[in-house]
Amino acid sequence: MKPVRSHQSSPLHGTIRVPGDKSISHRALMFGAMAVGETKVTGLLEGEDVLSTAAAMRALGASVERGDDGIWTVRGRGVGGFSEPTGVLDMGNSGTAARLLMGILATQSFTTFMTGDASLCSRPMERVMTPLRPIGVGFVSRSKGRMPLAIQGTDAPMPITYELPVASAQVKSAVMLAGLNAPGKTTVIEPNPSRDHTEKMLTHFGAEVVVEEQENGGRVITLTGQPELVARDVIVPTDPSSAAFPVVAALITPGSDITVEAVGMNPLRTGLFTTLKEMGAKITALNTRVEAGEEVADLKVEYSELHGVTVPANRAPSMIDEYPVLAVAASFAKGTTHMEGLEELRVKESDRLAVVVESLKACGIDVEEGESSMTVVGTGEPALGGGEIKSRLDHRIAMSFIVFGMASQKPVSIDDAAPIDTSFPGFSDLMNGLGAKIKETANS
Ligand code: S3P
Repeated sequence: MKPVRSHQSSPLHGTIRVPGDKSISHRALMFGAMAVGETKVTGLLEGEDVLSTAAAMRALGASVERGDDGIWTVRGRGVGGFSEPTGVLDMGNSGTAARLLMGILATQSFTTFMTGDASLCSRPMERVMTPLRPIGVGFVSRSKGRMPLAIQGTDAPMPITYELPVASAQVKSAVMLAGLNAPGKTTVIEPNPSRDHTEKMLTHFGAEVVVEEQENGGRVITLTGQPELVARDVIVPTDPSSAAFPVVAALITPGSDITVEAVGMNPLRTGLFTTLKEMGAKITALNTRVEAGEEVADLKVEYSELHGVTVPANRAPSMIDEYPVLAVAASFAKGTTHMEGLEELRVKESDRLAVVVESLKACGIDVEEGESSMTVVGTGEPALGGGEIKSRLDHRIAMSFIVFGMASQKPVSIDDAAPIDTSFPGFSDLMNGLGAKIKETANS
């Protein structure tokens, strides 16, 4: 346990760069491990989640090494070329690592055992097993499809067509990765588009992926199986989901003016910035450019008088990880912010809908929880704060309420900030460098 207290901050000033994108980092290691040749990865997120993926790739026979210059080198085994791990793969806290690997391991001709921490072992895995079974893979899991589980891979995979019942890039990616090793075409239909890093990066590594936009806003993604993936270098942009924390902190801390450099601006990830601008946020994207196939920009962010808005349900996939910190911004805005389409928040690292509501209440906020919605009422004045927050193995809960404490009247305490290392190592030091007052406190 690593308890911290976040006290009212000085105005935030300075230029920072947040760590590499978590989604892209996992994929760079996995796809590099399935390619023939040597893949160099620059800007990899060295957070615990991604290190779990690195360890799993090594256990499966790929070579994954960090150079002294911070560049990672992956020597791959080819699609379908992994070897049976001798132990249980521990995916730690990472749903992305676990679910994408289930897709990859579905078509390796051996059985793999997989586990994770208490949070991951409580998350639903049936959503990945359901589409993978028709490919020919067998699963044995704990009740209700929970981890630990075993994946009995098939050596005669069948290509499938699958329509996603939930907007999930992890489920989409698992099906596509299983399809890599199946003959013919694997098709995924997604009614509401989720992040497309798998589509983009598989194309970068030489796979044939065709994406058709539908009139109703959905997408049909078709992958041609059994390509030879060829090693390609990857430059990882910084993570917009991590940039979200200093951005909101600057918006709610009076007198702030910061720049967050080279933020990934993939349009399927920027729903939070769109919403904050609708709330009156002064966020200016400068030097917008494309780096290694992904859009990036430097974000200049100034303290702003925010007002409440209604966030439409169809925006949820493009900001799914950002609702906790949006709820913090809404607490400092004037008026009512209503968020809909939040059912997926209930199955993240924690039940984020319930945990955000309970934590906001502990900080004196008027908030209402619906089955799949949340309504936050702000006064436009600094919120009271003073809550004692349980982070519940959820990095984004810990960071969101540290940000809350930066602008609230009373400090906010977090029982355990250790989960932050899964996605944003160095978070407190970086924020303190801007003017925050985040202090470690003694274990009680
Ligand atoms: C991710 C997809 C999202 C997101 C997660 C990362 C990915 O999960 O919440 O942090 O890298 O594919 P879902 O697929 O469950 O929506």
